[in-house]
Formats: sequence, C-alpha cells, structure tokens
Amino acid sequence: MKENDQLEPTVFVIFGGAGDLAWRKLIPALFDLFHSQSIPAHFSIIAVDRVEFNEGALHKRLHEGVKKFSRFGKVSVKQWNGFAKHIRYLKGDFKGPATYSALTDHCKKLDTEWEAKAHHIFYMATPPSLFGVIPKCLEQAGLASDLERARVVVEKPIGYDLESALALNRTLASAFQESQIFRIDHYLGKETVQNILAFRFANPLFEPIWNRRYVDYVTITVAEEVGVEHRGGYYDGAGALRDMVQNHLMQLLCLVAMEPMVSFEADEIRNKKVDVLHAVRPIPHHAVHQCAVRGQYGEGWIGGTEVRGYREEDGVPPDSQTETFAALRLFVDNWRWQDVPFYLRTGKRLPRQVSEVAIQFRAVPHQSFPPEATLDWQPSRLVMSIHPDEGIVLRFQAKHPGPKMQLRSVDMRFNYREAFDAPSPDAYETLLWDVMNNDATLFMRADQVEAAWRILMPVLEAWKASPPSDFPNYPGGTWGPDATQGLLTHQGHSWPLPMELAEPSDSKGHKS
Ligand code: BG6
Repeated sequence: MKENDQLEPTVFVIFGGAGDLAWRKLIPALFDLFHSQSIPAHFSIIAVDRVEFNEGALHKRLHEGVKKFSRFGKVSVKQWNGFAKHIRYLKGDFKGPATYSALTDHCKKLDTEWEAKAHHIFYMATPPSLFGVIPKCLEQAGLASDLERARVVVEKPIGYDLESALALNRTLASAFQESQIFRIDHYLGKETVQNILAFRFANPLFEPIWNRRYVDYVTITVAEEVGVEHRGGYYDGAGALRDMVQNHLMQLLCLVAMEPMVSFEADEIRNKKVDVLHAVRPIPHHAVHQCAVRGQYGEGWIGGTEVRGYREEDGVPPDSQTETFAALRLFVDNWRWQDVPFYLRTGKRLPRQVSEVAIQFRAVPHQSFPPEATLDWQPSRLVMSIHPDEGIVLRFQAKHPGPKMQLRSVDMRFNYREAFDAPSPDAYETLLWDVMNNDATLFMRADQVEAAWRILMPVLEAWKASPPSDFPNYPGGTWGPDATQGLLTHQGHSWPLPMELAEPSDSKGHKS
C-alpha cells in the first residue's frame, strides 16, 4: 500500500450519510483505513442527507457504528476524535440545486485550505430510486467534469431488470465517463474471492485440469443463516435472484470459469469475465422450471432457536410471493466448459452461513482397484471456501493403513488465517481504498451488469408469469425446497456438504 502522504487529497461525499450503509459499512471501513494510516493525509468526509442532524449527534451515531463494526474492535475516544474531525454533515435535498452548490463551495474551500485540487468521490448510499437523479445533479453543478479526479460509486442493485439496468447505465453515462463509474459488488472485495484468481493463475498446478475433461460439475453456494432482518421493505421488492444471484453469484461464476488474463489490468480482467457471461447458455422460457428452483422460508428452527417465517417478517406482506431462495443450473458454452453444469444456490434462513465453490472432478477413467478396496470411494473435490471458513480443501483418495488395500477420502487443507499472520481487511475497506486509488479492477463494468441481467431475464419473466402456489416451501433451518435436489440428482450429482461439516470418513470408514 502507498503511504498516506502519497495519496491524493480526497473529499469523500456520502449521499445517504445518515443511513444504514454509512453507519454499518462505509464509516467503519473509512475509519479502519484511517487507523491503519491508509487514508490521504488531507481528507474530508461529507455526509449528505435529508434528515435533521447536528454534527455532534451524527458523530455520536457514527461512533457507535464504528465501535460495533470496525475490525479494530473498541475504539478509544482519542482515536475516534482524530477521525471524526474530518466528518461534516450537510443537510440537503438530493434533488435540490442548493445542496450541490453548498457541496461545490465546500469543496472549493477545502482546495484552498489544502492548496491542492482534491479528488472527489461521490458515493450513492441511497435508495436506488435516486441513482438516476444524483449523477445528473452532480453533472449540472459541474462536479462530474474532472475525468481524473471526480468519481461516482454506485451500490447494488444496479437496476431491477435488464431494461432498468440499461436505463441506469445510460443515465450514469450521460453524467460520467465509464472510467469514473465504480459499481460496487462487495463480494469482489473479499480476500478469499480475490484469492480465486491467485489460486488459479499464479499456480500451474490446477489450470491444466480446470476444464471439461476433468471437471464433472461445479457448485456455487452462498447460504445465509439470517432472515431478511430489518430489510423486509427492500427485500420483498427484490428477492434472492436479484439480491444475490445477479451480482455475487454471477461474479463467483465468472472468477471460476474465466480464461487466464493476459495482464492484471482492470479492463483485461473485466473482459475475461464478460466473456464468461456471454457464453452462458440462454435458458429457454419453456425450460425455466427444469433449470431454476425458487423457495420461500417458513417458520423453523436454527441452532436451537425458533425462527419466524418470511411472511411474518417486518415489512413483508403476509401473502408475499418473493423468493428467499434460488437455485440455477447453468452451462457455459465454450471449449473449456461445454456441457459441464454449474449449479448455483443461495438462500436465507438456511442451516448455516457458508459461501463456497466446489469443483467436483470426474471419476478415474478405469477403476483398477478391487471392488472391496473402493467401497468408500468418492470423487476428488476441490472446495474454495469464502465464508466463514476461509481457505481451500482438496479431497482425494488415499490408502487406509493396514495389510489390505482399502481406499478412503482424505483432506488437504489450507486455512487463510493460519497461513498468514495478517488480518484480512473488510471487503468495503479494500474497495474504498481501490476507489481512492482509481483502480476499477474489482468493480463491475456496465456491460458485465447487463450481461448478468440478460442471463436471468427468462427466469424472472417465467416466475412473474406463474406465481408460486406452494410458498412457503422450506422451513427455516433447512437447505431449501426439495426441488433443489432435483436440479442435480437426475444427472447423478449432489450438493456437497459445506466443507467444515463434510469430514472425510474416519479410520474405521465411518463418517465422523
Ligand atoms: C448483500 C445482500 O448484497 O449481501 C444481502 O443484499 C446479503 O441480502 C449480503 O445478506 C450477504 O453478504 P455477506 O458478505 O454477509 O455474505
């Protein structure tokens, strides 16, 4: 990382600065950067919002958020005050020119004070309905014109469907150049997600077998134990497909399936990812029910605690038809992956929180061991675990000790925390650092977002046209609706147990 005095003076403007995202993610991440001296020596945070707040009250609230969410844990008053003096509050209407002229004045004042031309980062931590308005206002106020120094950051969801994503991208493009637009998908900031590229392309070991000749199928699981928490209002208008699959799971698919990049340039990597999305076989309307499964959680039990059903959550209508679980079977039609199924699943109120990618390798072409040696035989599998375990597990067959030839599965494990004596930064910390450094590698380009929507449109349309008749169809604390198994089993495939749970057989050949 650069030293903080090498970073350009920066004004960080957060639209929605009094909101949840700023409280929970952005301010704690900026504080952590400040704490590890990775923020410019000259920096200012301007929180813009509509609500009445005096600066003291805002600072108090943000301090609470930092105490709760900073990775440095408890924060002393002295540390907090050193950071908080950089935060200003600007009460203003997001659509009103007065807000933008106050912003302009403030930025000019800072330039004079710092004797420099500062970089301006405009972060839209607002409801999506404002994503079209704010960039236009910034442009009209002349705040978007500096191609080197002005940047806009857009939170997901980027659109509600393909049409709205295209419209939003057009609006953004009418105010900013693509190089100034940073579309956030916080999964890309996770260390273990970035490690997929390192693992694949910094080692010659697995790449030769990373293809249809050796890989039987791939599963991508992002399971959450939590329900919709306090976000029922937003979530009910979105659902699992829009909230998770369109962005986080598609990004994982791209990283697993992409071709090696020629250089570590933002556009080179993004080109390779877009190639994957373009190669995904379109799902025909008539086949949606064979390739996609939806679910909604009912009441159930998780970890000994009774949990309520989705329809009982705050902000959710009692007859809601929104899916809280989605699973898909996709194919990537290219030389590397032809006919290898990629199974994606995500859901809320599943038995445990786990994000992982599993590569299931094909069986050996000829089984030369005697049948009694292979009673416990399992195919080799590589699991890249993203969360909460961070690491990689390679499962393969070994000879069980003893006079007889008997095979059983064993695991070779790499654990991030054990291997590196350095804490992982939070995803937002990494991403905000990258925005400050004008590095768009970990951000979604317009064409990527649109290509991901294009893949999902047949499913969204088919689901809209035929509302579910069986919701809720999985109890909280289970792995989703039964039909999810059917996506795989008729091919002889199965969802792997999460890495931590799926212990290999013990020495007696039993599962532990
Ligand atoms: C967000 C979704 O993008 O990702 C949430 O809107 C979800 O619904 C969250 O809970 C999951 O992120 P993580 O980092 O906790 O896996």
